[in-house]
Amino acid sequence: MATVTMKAPAPGGLSSKARELMEAINAEAGKHNVWVRTQANAPAQRPWFSQTDGAGSGEVASGRVAVAQLKTQPHIWKWKDYSPYLNQISEIARKADVSPIEFADRQSILLLNPGLNGRLQVTNTIRCAISVYNPGDVAPVHLHSPNASRTILSNKGGYTVVEGERVTADRGDLILTPNGTWHDHGNDSAEPVVWIDTLDWPLMEFLDAAWVDHDMPGLKGSNANVQPVTFAEGYSRALYGHGGLKPTFVDHQRGVGRAPAPLFHYRGADVKDMLHALRNEKGDAHEGIKVDFVNPVTGESVFKTLRYSAQLLRPGEETELKRETAGTYYVVIEGTGATEVGGKRFEWAHNDLFVVPNFTWRKHINTGKTDAIIYSVSDATLMENIGQYYAQGRDKHGKVTELH
Ligand SMILES: [Fe+2]
Repeated sequence: MATVTMKAPAPGGLSSKARELMEAINAEAGKHNVWVRTQANAPAQRPWFSQTDGAGSGEVASGRVAVAQLKTQPHIWKWKDYSPYLNQISEIARKADVSPIEFADRQSILLLNPGLNGRLQVTNTIRCAISVYNPGDVAPVHLHSPNASRTILSNKGGYTVVEGERVTADRGDLILTPNGTWHDHGNDSAEPVVWIDTLDWPLMEFLDAAWVDHDMPGLKGSNANVQPVTFAEGYSRALYGHGGLKPTFVDHQRGVGRAPAPLFHYRGADVKDMLHALRNEKGDAHEGIKVDFVNPVTGESVFKTLRYSAQLLRPGEETELKRETAGTYYVVIEGTGATEVGGKRFEWAHNDLFVVPNFTWRKHINTGKTDAIIYSVSDATLMENIGQYYAQGRDKHGKVTELH
């Protein structure tokens, strides 16, 4: 067996020679899935507590460290650009002898963040698909480990059955299908319906914990692709839909997931009523009038990973700059405005979607003559749960404040 003798470094600049010698080892070491470290670790981000000027965020690292590094970029998907694809899919599906739902499982487009190399992700943790369901379309019953939701964009939004409870939805509604809940969807109206599917799928995939089950116990072999409806319509809203009141006679567990939020249906009309009722309050300098969708049993985020919120910006309102250690995507429900993110300005309107990456300074401006309502989903809850959530504000004079 060879012995290695540690020698004192020779005097004079041997460091570049040392790097050369070590790089030479790398050619061989790679065959054994080993990299001999020849450069300093260079994270993409600058230290959180260093004050930055409000424009942009960290750069991708350099050298070997950057090889497999992907970074979410600020981006906007405009309704006028993406909705024609939904119309085309709907038209093809209407005439097809085999429905796209049969061979593709869904009729949808998936949003790809340009910084994530074609991955089916809008941020590091979030997948966002926009689905179109023609009259009569049904998505078969299934259950999965990722948490998921629907945000309804069309005026009538079809239905979802979750754990035996049928939910009929309208524009602005949020329907949850927490991990481990059986669900199926469909459209029994006369018009195509469109909604956003939001999932923490990329995170579950990263953790190698994403799975789907299509065989609902009791349905196997029956040819049924939908679950029986076993609760009255509006069951979970009747139990939990009155703020501040919690029923005492039910088990809050629904499905087989760990502590899922048991309220499945949040109505857009209620969100709008609440935001408008609060519009004369001062609100938050960085957010305007903002509310979170919460688990009514615990008061916590609806999912352990994702935070869902809705906010109202009044005409002319311009927030102060804010940044968080969380990635967020937004959808515009009402109004027109702009969001400046990392030095870019995104003008937004009805149904546009945009992304604010981790660490990146942003501010919202309502440029219209009416109130604007935007919904958002971020992984701030995940970051809080793992002790990594921070937020900062930056006022007009450049003064940076720790918000969280
Ligand atoms: Fe699903």
